[in-house]
Amino acid sequence: MLWWDIVVVLVLVFLPWPWGVASNMQHLREQLNCHTHTQGTNSFLWQVRRHPPAYFLGTIHVPYTRVWDYIPQNTKVAFQESENIFVELDLTDPNTMSELANCQLLPNGENLSDVLPHGMYRRLKTHLQYVKRMMPQWLSADQRGRSFYADYLFEAIVGNWERKRPIWVMLVIDSLTEADIKSREIPVLDLYLAQEATRRNKRTGAVEQVEEQCIPLNGLNFTQVSLLLLLS
Ligand SMILES: *[C@@H]1O[C@H](CO)[C@@H](O)[C@H](O)[C@H]1NC(C)=O
Ligand SMILES: *[C@@H]1O[C@H](CO)[C@@H](O)[C@H](O)[C@H]1NC(C)=O
Repeated sequence: MLWWDIVVVLVLVFLPWPWGVASNMQHLREQLNCHTHTQGTNSFLWQVRRHPPAYFLGTIHVPYTRVWDYIPQNTKVAFQESENIFVELDLTDPNTMSELANCQLLPNGENLSDVLPHGMYRRLKTHLQYVKRMMPQWLSADQRGRSFYADYLFEAIVGNWERKRPIWVMLVIDSLTEADIKSREIPVLDLYLAQEATRRNKRTGAVEQVEEQCIPLNGLNFTQVSLLLLLS
């Protein structure tokens, strides 16, 4: 889906350790074959020729388990070699998360029912009631083992929807499918890489501020967003 793609394409910058050149590094480097076709698929990895080299990787916000097996070895080696990892937004930072939540809200305490045509607002409400009813059946066996989990999850994803701008409500609606609910706890690829980087004591950071994500989306033409909402 178009707008979602705009949100999700992001850049990771890998800056490898300049001085810690272990003996096997040469061998690892030989495996790096950037921006070439690997096993018939594009690796989405670019190398910036500098000393030490830097890498750009295009990632996507989907549970990492869905794509991990298709990520070529050269990318995994670049990640392993890199000392600094920069992601789009630092989703492990609570400040980033709260800024992101705030920027999704309608201005001046407005309610979605004030800005959407009445019929569309009713349809949305009915759809969300349907999702709430279905949620217990959509959970994985593991999720189901936990009491009150369905309600908790629904609230975590949908809560406060009437205070959000239509574009963000559309993204919420888009993520309310059985498959998405089941894989909810699996980190998305870029978050997974950030978590792995932290676990391996790499330095991490973000290349974007929350407003760089929010302002373009919030500035979309209202008529067009309403149309997308209608279609989703
Ligand atoms: C938004 O408006 C609807 C309809 O008027 C109302 O039922 C709902 O409680 C309001 N939500 C919030 C968060 O104020
Ligand atoms: C928004 O898009 C609609 C349909 O494409 C167009 O008619 C309208 O002029 C646009 N509004 C603004 C404020 O750009």
